[in-house]
Amino acid sequence: MARRPMVAGNWKMYKTAGEAVVLVQDVAELVDDVWDKVEVVVCPPFTDLKSASTVIELDKLTMGLGAQDVFYEEEGAFTGAIAPRMLADLRVDYVIVGHSERREYFGDTDETVNLKVKAVLKHRMTPIVCCGESLAVRDAGETEGFVRGQIAAGLAGLDADAAAKLVVAYEPIWAIGTGRTPTPEGANDVCRTIRATVGAMYGPPAAMSVRVLYGGSVKPENAGMFFGEPDIDGALVGGASLDASSFSDIVHAARP
Ligand code: PGA
Repeated sequence: MARRPMVAGNWKMYKTAGEAVVLVQDVAELVDDVWDKVEVVVCPPFTDLKSASTVIELDKLTMGLGAQDVFYEEEGAFTGAIAPRMLADLRVDYVIVGHSERREYFGDTDETVNLKVKAVLKHRMTPIVCCGESLAVRDAGETEGFVRGQIAAGLAGLDADAAAKLVVAYEPIWAIGTGRTPTPEGANDVCRTIRATVGAMYGPPAAMSVRVLYGGSVKPENAGMFFGEPDIDGALVGGASLDASSFSDIVHAARP
């Protein structure tokens, strides 16, 4: 399949700006041999983006830079918020949108996710749109319908070309930071449903091109199993992305 694998590190609320420079350089050194085969992205906190962006540029690192969230307005009296053009100005390539922790603690909904996706695209960055079910939804046997609904609402109203370039991360909430994961086949089933939903909305070429990542307790020990599945194009990695060697091992496991 022509889709380029991607491994993105979601650093969450860890690392100062100085620590970010060290981690970016350590990761870059370890993944240098696979840059043409696997797209590597780091998503540090907002306060680290400037230093990460500078080291990526000065050291000419082949690494993508992502933010963990954004607000959808252009500018204005929104204390504490960050606008898309502020990220674009720092040469941010990707923006994680709708992570379950943003939905749980900061009030993101499918509607605000949709507004954020559009705002990110407008500023020529690529959203990494997160979706995934709670344990209660899973236990009720409603995972596929729930995720389909999140995608239909979160990705509504885009044009097909934009949809084709999107990245979607399937992250079951019960697997995030818990050490528990679905089976690779089970994760692939949901990723296939996500791809089919994008196809129903934007046509088969968009379905073929959209990259779908798995996220939730991805570690060097289990990454290869997920990457062996046909509808999983890489991973969104939390905890293991804070350690350069673990993250590099996951990147290497994504080599086609
Ligand atoms: P985890 O987090 O890898 O620590 O489970 C993944 C995520 O929240 O993106």
